[in-house]
Amino acid sequence: MPQLPPHIRTQPESGIRLITERAWNTPGAIVLSVGEPQFPLAEHVTAAGMDAWRRDDTNYTANSGIPELKAAIERALAEQFAVRVEPDRVMVTAGAVQAMHLAMSMTLATGDEILIPDPGYTIFEMGPHLVQAKPVRYRLRPEHDFLPEISELESLITPRSRALLVNSPSNPLGQVIPENLMRDLYAFASRHDLWLISDECYGAFTFGVEHVSPLRFDTEHRVFAAYSTSKTYGMTGIRVGWLVCPPGLSSTLNAVQESVVSCINTPAQWAAVAALSGPQDYVEHARDSYRESARAASEYLRERGFRFLTPRGAFYLWLDVSHLSGGDVSAWTLHALDEWGIGLAPGSAFGPHGEGWVRISLAGNRLELLEALSRIPAPSRASVTR
Ligand SMILES: Cc1ncc(COP(=O)(O)O)c(C=O)c1O
Repeated sequence: MPQLPPHIRTQPESGIRLITERAWNTPGAIVLSVGEPQFPLAEHVTAAGMDAWRRDDTNYTANSGIPELKAAIERALAEQFAVRVEPDRVMVTAGAVQAMHLAMSMTLATGDEILIPDPGYTIFEMGPHLVQAKPVRYRLRPEHDFLPEISELESLITPRSRALLVNSPSNPLGQVIPENLMRDLYAFASRHDLWLISDECYGAFTFGVEHVSPLRFDTEHRVFAAYSTSKTYGMTGIRVGWLVCPPGLSSTLNAVQESVVSCINTPAQWAAVAALSGPQDYVEHARDSYRESARAASEYLRERGFRFLTPRGAFYLWLDVSHLSGGDVSAWTLHALDEWGIGLAPGSAFGPHGEGWVRISLAGNRLELLEALSRIPAPSRASVTR
């Protein structure tokens, strides 16, 4: 067999998959390691997808998506995030993952550097690697509420720096970047002439704080922003998201999309039109449920003396288990699964600075969540456990 190229041989793997697959195969385990909404799909969304299949609306579409979906996206961005974007700046993609891949393909050449959050979602490292760019981690520290620090970013700039990646609301942290800091991050990108790649796939889920997209103040046309129906409408397997690109790039973006997937599954696009244009009860119900789970879990963990980041958005809780994990949280999550039947995502899967922490999904059943948390020994009890 011929040799695979080096960057493919060394493509990083997701550290969440291993624990999750093992947890799924462990009878009776409570699986909190995966970011999967649990509510059933809204009926009008199912019907729209099925109608498209039935009327044989199953041909290729334009690279960038059907006009009805792009119009629905334009309306949703304006209503939900106060962002005005003409439809020719929208590319419909196979979820936010493909939107992020497109953004990286558009902006990064071999050897270019992109600043990524640590801890940050796994694809933020995997994506640049695939386009032979270099992910450079910027640290999010507990002392700073796990928010980006401009001084840290400044210290990482080199002549190869090309892009800054931000993710708010954040996976795995549940943190939300406030408007002032988002403006400072934009100014930083501007100072160093960087692209700003913004993953906003959890934008619909914030608890008492506002989601602010850098698109709102992108006067210099340097922002690519990724969105998705996956989390917002519980459509993870339907695979529809979109990328908003700066003005004037749509024909280049079409050519890149043509070479990757040509276009997105047509019935899935119709399902997304229904999700975006129809009743929004699903989103409200899901947001209320995540907020209530975040509140109940925080209260319970606080009572027991744990250190954690209070979730402000998305549906994750970031918990310090360093009193238990003995410097190897990845091994400890396997132990937690075998010993207590709970599947938790190790913080180290999100970067070296996640060591000692775990990500807990708030998207499942609340009683199971609290039951799982009750099985984790609290700091004061730690010495007798491990
Ligand atoms: C921050 C972030 N970006 C992108 C994705 C992928 O979403 P999609 O299903 O839209 O590809 C996820 C999924 O967990 C995520 O957490």
